[in-house]
Amino acid sequence: MTNQNLWWKHGVVYQIYPRSFMDSNADGIGDLEGIISKLDYLQDLGIDAIWLSPIYPSPDADFGYDVADYRDIDPKFGTLESFNRFQEEAHKRNIKVIMDLVLNHSSVEHNWFVEARQSKDNPYRDYYIWADGKNGKAPNNWGAIFGGSAWKWDEQAQQYYLHMFYEGQPDLNWRNPTLYQEMMDIFRFWCDRGVDGFRLDVFNLYYKDKDLRDNPRRFPPTPPFGRIYDWQDHKYDFDQPEMLPALEDIRKILDSYSDRYAIGETYPEVADTAATYAAPGRLHAAFNFTFLHSAWKATDFVKTIHYWEAPAHADIQPTYVLGNHDVPRPATRYAKGEEDARMKVAAVMLLTLRGTPYIYYGDEIGQRDIPVRRRKDIQDPIGKRYFPFMVGRDGCRAPMQWDASPNAGFAKANVKPWLPVHKDHLERNVETQLADPNSLLNQYKTLIKLRKDNPALNAGNLSLFDLNTSDILAFTRTTPEQTTFVCLNFSNKSHQINLPEDMQASTLLYSTHKNIQTQLDSTTYQLQANEAIILRK
Ligand code: NOJ
Repeated sequence: MTNQNLWWKHGVVYQIYPRSFMDSNADGIGDLEGIISKLDYLQDLGIDAIWLSPIYPSPDADFGYDVADYRDIDPKFGTLESFNRFQEEAHKRNIKVIMDLVLNHSSVEHNWFVEARQSKDNPYRDYYIWADGKNGKAPNNWGAIFGGSAWKWDEQAQQYYLHMFYEGQPDLNWRNPTLYQEMMDIFRFWCDRGVDGFRLDVFNLYYKDKDLRDNPRRFPPTPPFGRIYDWQDHKYDFDQPEMLPALEDIRKILDSYSDRYAIGETYPEVADTAATYAAPGRLHAAFNFTFLHSAWKATDFVKTIHYWEAPAHADIQPTYVLGNHDVPRPATRYAKGEEDARMKVAAVMLLTLRGTPYIYYGDEIGQRDIPVRRRKDIQDPIGKRYFPFMVGRDGCRAPMQWDASPNAGFAKANVKPWLPVHKDHLERNVETQLADPNSLLNQYKTLIKLRKDNPALNAGNLSLFDLNTSDILAFTRTTPEQTTFVCLNFSNKSHQINLPEDMQASTLLYSTHKNIQTQLDSTTYQLQANEAIILRK
């Protein structure tokens, strides 16, 4: 049964990229009032929690992932009062609120950095990582994830500072005890305001080697090959052992409040490190991003599921993600302009696996990425720098498609949204899909409800089946009172499925294809091309 105290274990999380969800004040940028106006939609969808990408004051070098004040709301999104109201309204609808905490780096405009760069004896100097050059060059060979060296010479400070991402994002020095306390206080600040959980941005970078040693060279490099970063093993800039006690301290703070949650983002996404950080006493979960890079093949998805279902990970809460604000959307990756058949199969998989499903706004209607064609139109720093080799992340960040009106209902017709709306919003939008019982959106709603109403789908153990074909992914979810069998066809061919013995003579709980009752007899099921089913016993 669903345990209310473990909402994060049983619930479904919905990620909102606030700039793109709903604009209430006609500036072309989404905001908190806009989100409040859509809470009824989210309640109706059935989600349990909202993760908001950052809404703190930010000069937007990386659209909010460069924070200028950790204890306030950017005026473009609202105020602390509107945040309170948003939180109250969400809570009224039984929706939890997860904030994105970006504590590996701040913005160059954070007051700490403004102070720090003034002089070597400024009390804030050591809040950041400074070093002198070596032989007229950067202090070491580390490369930034957004390209180039990770070091930037600062004229005012007369030293280099470290930035693992953009130069507007200087890395904080977690080894400084005062900074460390500041970080812990930020968790307390938002917990005191009633926030239910946190998504920790790149927390596995918080600590760097104390002696700033050079990373070993790596050959062959990792894709996309063009950055210094791709040619190194990240021995000294990622995953330092000092991380673990910090996670344990964070956990203690969260546990001193009731029912709070933290999920961490590791970079790059290595399953083993994610599992270590999500072990008991540390974070509640760490993202597993493997699905973001899986090919549309049952066998690819099975590998990931196997990993998280291994006995060694029995105490770890898996998370499954098909899309987020950093990668092309699942419909862009998999549907290739076709109808939503594959997206329906993907939705069944996401919402029936053991673990926490994360839905990225718009994926419930199968939004596609907007095309990114010209450098001058690009907003994302990565795309600006590397176009055309890397186009950046604007594609998956376009406004939510609410209806067929100009600007897709995201903003008033006379407003220019910060990114263009996809031209397919005329057909693909929330309003149209709500009215169509066969739409992807209505499938999401039904599946979320099934997951809530069926203990096996919500809390059951998972065991994978080998059906001797690489096209099919099949598993059971079982609790003492119920067994469900989930079977997904990733191919364009029909397959006859011999039902596992304990699922014979079961009933069809759900199919992506309507009116197929005749496909089921007591021992077999004729699975159609791109069909996904759930049987119940
Ligand atoms: C990971 C976030 O998901 C991404 O959007 C951001 O650019 C980097 N961290 C830096 O904060």
